[in-house]
Amino acid sequence: MKITFFSTQPYDKIFFNKYNADHGFELEFFETHLGPHIVNAVDKAGAVCVFVNDRVIPEVIKVLAEKGVKIIALRCAGFNNVDLEAAKQYGLRVCRVPAYSPEAVAEHALAMILTLNRKTHKAYNRVREQNFSLNGLLGFNLHGKTVGVVGTGNIGKAFCNIMQGLGCKALAFDIAQDETLIKAGVTYLPLEEVLQQSDIISLHCPLNDKTKHLINAASISSMKKGVMIINTSRGKLINTEDAIDALKSRHIGYLGIDVYEQEEKLFFKDLSASIIEDDIIQRLMSFPNVLVTAHQAFFTEEALSQIAVKTLQNIKELATGTTIPNDPAIMI
Ligand code: NAI
Repeated sequence: MKITFFSTQPYDKIFFNKYNADHGFELEFFETHLGPHIVNAVDKAGAVCVFVNDRVIPEVIKVLAEKGVKIIALRCAGFNNVDLEAAKQYGLRVCRVPAYSPEAVAEHALAMILTLNRKTHKAYNRVREQNFSLNGLLGFNLHGKTVGVVGTGNIGKAFCNIMQGLGCKALAFDIAQDETLIKAGVTYLPLEEVLQQSDIISLHCPLNDKTKHLINAASISSMKKGVMIINTSRGKLINTEDAIDALKSRHIGYLGIDVYEQEEKLFFKDLSASIIEDDIIQRLMSFPNVLVTAHQAFFTEEALSQIAVKTLQNIKELATGTTIPNDPAIMI
């Protein structure tokens, strides 16, 4: 069976070619995003493999179905960019990789916190220019601080464990509480209280109708002045324009984002010689207390291996009808 990949980067080819040796699928790689502009190029594929910014909207799904595609395989955990209703309607199966390496993302959230707090990126450049001054590098101890975690699934749970290990008090909000976290000392509270009481807020819930713009002018105004907000989940969890206003008013003291509302036009591309037309990201990057990384939280050896192994296994199971009941990897 042929699998056509979209949004392919060189590292995708390396990992998928390596693990496909166990399966023998025919792999075809396109660098472009999947969307209405390219879907007609799909030819004789049984599956398409997509990533976070591919637009798997109803009109795309309709064409995929007409071309005989049976499986949409997400090589990521989040699935907000695939219209599951349309896929169901056209008889396509959809799978994802629910937990390839929660630690990879949780550790990146910590890296963002430490960078924003201890300013190691500035120290690195300063010392190389023989500037050994400490002015402007003042940080704070994480030990004893209150960390609010929104979404305590695989990643949020790993993140709680890390932050508790650093001596932080962990508060959490989730629509479903995790007993092991409660036993480990994490306190679940209503969302409003988590936002009000936390020094650092880290988002680990999926993007859906209930979580879109969870961080907005109203919710920010209830937070502690100088709060640090970290988003490694999905860009649209934050109303970016409201966040910019709160950075200007100093209500947000630090913002670390690995995901961005309009990231599909920017992330995973080298635009160093281009004119960026997105004024919002440019404004964000002008703040000294904002750290933007380009959706790299998942990007570890372990995670890429697991993504390739699980995606190919999902496709094989769906193609041969050997899926396990209630497997969270199989969406429909
Ligand atoms: P998960 O499904 O294990 O956990 C999500 C948690 O959010 C669940 O406990 C769920 O009950 C909770 N949740 C659902 N609706 C909620 C709401 N309205 N309010 C609060 N909590 C809610 O997912 P996982 O693996 O922990 O991933 C979380 C998110 O991280 C994904 O949805 C994805 O968007 C993002 N992600 C980002 C990556 C990156 O490289 N930046 C890589 C992998 C995932």
